[in-house]
Amino acid sequence: MIDLTEAPPPLKQESPELLARIYQLFRDYFDKAEKKRRWSIKDDIPWKECNKSLPRSISDVLETFSAVELYLPDYLAKLIPQVRTNRGRSWMLANWGYEECKHSMAFEDWLLHSGSRSEEQLADLEANVFSYDWNLPYDNARGMVCYTMIQELATAIHYENLKKIVHAEGGCPALERTLQLVAIDERAHADFFRRLVSLYLEDDRDATLEQLRRVFNTFAMPAVHMLADSQQRMTEVKELRIFDEETYLYEVCEPILAKLGLTRKDMRRRKSSREIVAMGAKT
Ligand SMILES: [Fe+2]
Ligand SMILES: [Fe+2]
Repeated sequence: MIDLTEAPPPLKQESPELLARIYQLFRDYFDKAEKKRRWSIKDDIPWKECNKSLPRSISDVLETFSAVELYLPDYLAKLIPQVRTNRGRSWMLANWGYEECKHSMAFEDWLLHSGSRSEEQLADLEANVFSYDWNLPYDNARGMVCYTMIQELATAIHYENLKKIVHAEGGCPALERTLQLVAIDERAHADFFRRLVSLYLEDDRDATLEQLRRVFNTFAMPAVHMLADSQQRMTEVKELRIFDEETYLYEVCEPILAKLGLTRKDMRRRKSSREIVAMGAKT
């Protein structure tokens, strides 16, 4: 586990060269998204082929995912001030917000089309969501990019696994297509934020590694715990075998570390200065 009593190494000021590289990363992401990844809720999902008799557990879990996506105003309101002078990162958040709002609307549309929820039930869910504020789980922009990188890949895997379950339970072309389109977006987000973490590692390795350690060792999915019936919702995700500790370790942590050129050993706690002094005294 990480040593929270030890202050992490100070983060280096971002140089104009680094800011220019981050902006270029965003432009490449944006240009590719415009060309290959734009989709329409109205036209690209076969709404007429909606299976109205899937097991209730599927619509319950989809409602949970929809609630997590509904916290978008909090995500944007709290993330943008951390990076407002970093154009690549703040423009990315604006674009990310556009893509995320589609996810929340597409999930809600399926809940309505399938007859699983009424307009009133969705209004109640929204009211419940906004009775709590989502707060930043890490107090600095470097830690938050590490967090977002992990969370985006974990989210993609939740949706991909739910899609497999829907298929096995008799299928629903509308929901399967929705989950596929949204998961492709989530993987693109994870890839962007991973490339961003690579730039920070190149520029300021020790401080970035320390932020990565903190996040890898304490990660939790956003917002679920804030919902009124959070325990039940998390149990449902587990019972459907959508995501568990093993998934986190082998499908999220290991692939990300490999792409960053790191290993699990790099994520173990660094020695605190007190321990280093004590080791020196023994030799
Ligand atoms: Fe999303
Ligand atoms: Fe995302």
